[in-house]
Amino acid sequence: MPQINLLVFGDVVGKLGRKALAKKLPELKAHYNPHLTIANAENLAHGRGLTESTLNELVEAGVDAFTSGQHVWENQQGTPLLSDEKWSKRLIRPANVDPVLPGNGTMSLTILGKTVVVVNLQGRLFMQQDSSSPFLSFDRIWQDLSSDQAKPIVIIDFHAEATSEKQAFGHYVDGRACLMYGTHTHVPTADAKILPQGTAYCTDIGMVGSADSVIGFEKNSSIKRFLEETTAPYELLSSGQAEVNGLSISLDLDSNQVLALEQIREFVDI
Ligand SMILES: [Fe+2]
Ligand SMILES: [Fe+2]
Repeated sequence: MPQINLLVFGDVVGKLGRKALAKKLPELKAHYNPHLTIANAENLAHGRGLTESTLNELVEAGVDAFTSGQHVWENQQGTPLLSDEKWSKRLIRPANVDPVLPGNGTMSLTILGKTVVVVNLQGRLFMQQDSSSPFLSFDRIWQDLSSDQAKPIVIIDFHAEATSEKQAFGHYVDGRACLMYGTHTHVPTADAKILPQGTAYCTDIGMVGSADSVIGFEKNSSIKRFLEETTAPYELLSSGQAEVNGLSISLDLDSNQVLALEQIREFVDI
């Protein structure tokens, strides 16, 4: 049975996250044989946004394409990459943000002769950035795709805080997307499953970053922010134990049906 295998990773946080993915990816690729590997890049450069060199580090490690989230515009070096000729083909940001912001919300790739459309959307509950309805935004994206006779494989990175919004969104796209996975909280939820209409779903696939931390950031700097109610900067560790969280999925190339779905949670010392 011809199949396509995909590996997806959540928010890669800072240097430790980048190093952890680079160290672990060869082993994971040998095991899962992915045709496409995607990672969320919103926290790539010291936790805030991305740069060309940090993206290149992950490309060299074996990542093919990048989704992101509300932090992606926070590094001035990275923002122009969202709309430049080279990177905008494989780096996207949430589709449902203010249209004046640079970047694309979807990307279309051809893999094994099949069109794979990666969609990035963000939630609206408890998010710092205003955005339009991800539900209606997806409807518009879906409508544009429906004219494609070839029935593309649609993958969604839904970047959102609230589990309720993510679950509601998963059910909303059930039967349309092949996979909807959550990112942004940096903490994996143990709920990968196939929804009634066939869409593979996981509320949040978790991050790639420091294991002894608060969502990837050095724990004492985070505690200080809560304790003193300051906006003191987060600190990041560049060595120590890291967790590598993601998900592997296999789809039937003809029917787009899910053949296998597995959450990945590994630890690696850097
Ligand atoms: Fe993040
Ligand atoms: Fe985020």
